[in-house]
Amino acid sequence: MESILRALGYAGQAPTGGASIRAHFVVVTDPGTRAELGEHYRRVWNARYGEFLEAARSEAARRGEKAPSDLESAAHLAANMGRMPVHVVACVDTAGRSMDGNQASLWGSVLPAAWSYMLAVRSLGLASAWTTVLLDAEQEVAELLELPESVRIGAVLPTAHPLGEGFRPARRDNWAAHIHDERW
Ligand SMILES: Cc1cc2nc3c(=O)[nH]c(=O)nc-3n(C[C@H](O)[C@H](O)[C@H](O)COP(=O)(O)O)c2cc1C
Repeated sequence: MESILRALGYAGQAPTGGASIRAHFVVVTDPGTRAELGEHYRRVWNARYGEFLEAARSEAARRGEKAPSDLESAAHLAANMGRMPVHVVACVDTAGRSMDGNQASLWGSVLPAAWSYMLAVRSLGLASAWTTVLLDAEQEVAELLELPESVRIGAVLPTAHPLGEGFRPARRDNWAAHIHDERW
């Protein structure tokens, strides 16, 4: 917990729009709340990806292969989300702000802080994951966490001690094609 609070301290250094701090982080460690979050996560993940996962597994088995590891890894998280020791829920207070049109300043006032948190926990020896699928059940989560009505969730960051030494640079095929010279 000390590392998490320290990392959230660094997160507070992230930029914030309109000279006001709109980012809020809810740190969830209570086992009952985590279990409920995990159950919502499993339900919405299965609704979105369950059939796709089964099809991918069947197709892979037909070829004598394993389903893609990123899909299995996401499925593993879905099955175990409730067992993550800490969930950090990154929120933004939209009070007084229209949710129509340009929302860049609003979301930009929380997402860099959430990413700063992830980098900071990593440097402190923990691991976290950026997830958003739980927002398919945002209303239920908001009730569970007693969020004020004006507060929206930007990301849910399960955080844990990593097992093993498996860190390596993320695979980003053809990243150079995403960098544009002067015009797209
Ligand atoms: C906006 C956004 C939302 C995401 N939501 C989820 C999610 O709900 N569940 C999940 O398993 N992965 C989600 N991911 C993907 C993971 O955070 C991660 O990027 C992915 O597993 C690939 O791993 P890598 O970044 O280490 O290559 C999301 C990523 C982004 C950027």
